[in-house]
Amino acid sequence: MSQSSPDCMAPPTAVQCTSSDPSIPLDCRALRNTLGRFATGVAVVTAVDPDGHPVGLTVNSFAAVSLNPPLVLWSLANASGHLEAFRRASHHCINILAADQEDISNRFATWPVDRFAGLAWHPGLGGAPRLDGCCAHFEVRNDIQHPGGDHLIFILRVEGFDEAPERAPLVFHGGRYRHLADL
Ligand SMILES: Cc1cc2nc3c(=O)[nH]c(=O)nc-3n(C[C@H](O)[C@H](O)[C@H](O)COP(=O)(O)O)c2cc1C
Repeated sequence: MSQSSPDCMAPPTAVQCTSSDPSIPLDCRALRNTLGRFATGVAVVTAVDPDGHPVGLTVNSFAAVSLNPPLVLWSLANASGHLEAFRRASHHCINILAADQEDISNRFATWPVDRFAGLAWHPGLGGAPRLDGCCAHFEVRNDIQHPGGDHLIFILRVEGFDEAPERAPLVFHGGRYRHLADL
């Protein structure tokens, strides 16, 4: 079932992307729409900043990298106000959202709000918040940071994980939330 599109994912106005070959212009909006054909889950990545305050944002750039050693990645916009907090944190927690957590996804993609107000969570490794009610959590050590254009790519070592297989995941596709349906 299709759900509403989050405001923060509103399509940008037509802009040319920087191309390696200037004779081949790339339309950023078309590229973004086409990337959106790749269905993903939705996660809230959390950490604590140097003052001990919890920080977090909604992402769909999470991906598995390696099983041995156990590595995952996600990418953060260089423009994020939380760039330094995530760069400096010893650990991040990847909270994989469940189908009934669309409101949490929107809250952690909206600014300015107190994203943790009234939310049930517990500190995990390095203090990174583990949100209640998720499908899965990955508690990960902040190992490698790699520049990736207008984003910073974090490659992280998994030090703990758990899952709640009875909870269906929240899905993002074509700029909208979706729910899995057995066909
Ligand atoms: C489904 C979805 C996926 C998103 N994925 C990412 C992502 O992978 N990386 C990112 O930096 N922002 C992503 N965003 C946007 C951020 O959640 C949003 O810009 C947020 O306000 C950033 O918080 P900050 O400005 O406090 O860092 C996504 C938003 C949504 C709704």
